[in-house]
Amino acid sequence: MKLAKFDKKFYNNLEDKEKILINKGIFYTINLGNKKVGIVGFIPSKFSDKQGFIQIIIKQEFRGKGLLEQAEDLLAKKHELEYLFATIKKDNIASIKSHKKAGFKKINIFKRLFLIKKGLLQTNEVRLYKKY
Ligand SMILES: CC(C)(COP(=O)(O)OP(=O)(O)OC[C@H]1O[C@@H](n2cnc3c(N)ncnc32)[C@H](O)[C@@H]1OP(=O)(O)O)[C@@H](O)C(=O)NCCC(=O)NCCS
Repeated sequence: MKLAKFDKKFYNNLEDKEKILINKGIFYTINLGNKKVGIVGFIPSKFSDKQGFIQIIIKQEFRGKGLLEQAEDLLAKKHELEYLFATIKKDNIASIKSHKKAGFKKINIFKRLFLIKKGLLQTNEVRLYKKY
């Protein structure tokens, strides 16, 4: 697997493209051999350039093969990230399941309530994190 230059046209043709935000982050096309299999990137945290919010889409036909974990680990390595955070809608079961499988953990209830109170997390979202 390789992280290649972000391909806007490929991204625009992806199903589910509205599930990620690409306006203010660092993005790559995920290549597997000579095939484009998805988009991965992160929005850097305001507090540290070693932390960011993950954004990922795997093309439909390549899902369920563990590519999420591989792509996110490559991204974290490339940018020497210490933490990746994921904000995921509660009904996005595939994404929650896949991130947990990749080693992400839920933030604790007190942090969750704090973020909700501050307007940084919606009640219909979960916040996960992975330490690298
Ligand atoms: C989330 C996403 C990137 C996961 O990528 P992936 O490479 O398929 O992840 P994995 O290979 O780890 O597989 C995901 C897990 O979800 C499961 N899964 C796949 N589709 C599912 C669905 N519709 N409902 C429930 N589970 C599903 C798979 O069975 C797999 O679990 P398993 O290995 O225990 O069987 C991919 O589903 C996707 O691109 N979704 C649309 C965009 C999106 O939601 N991005 C995340 C925004 S936070």
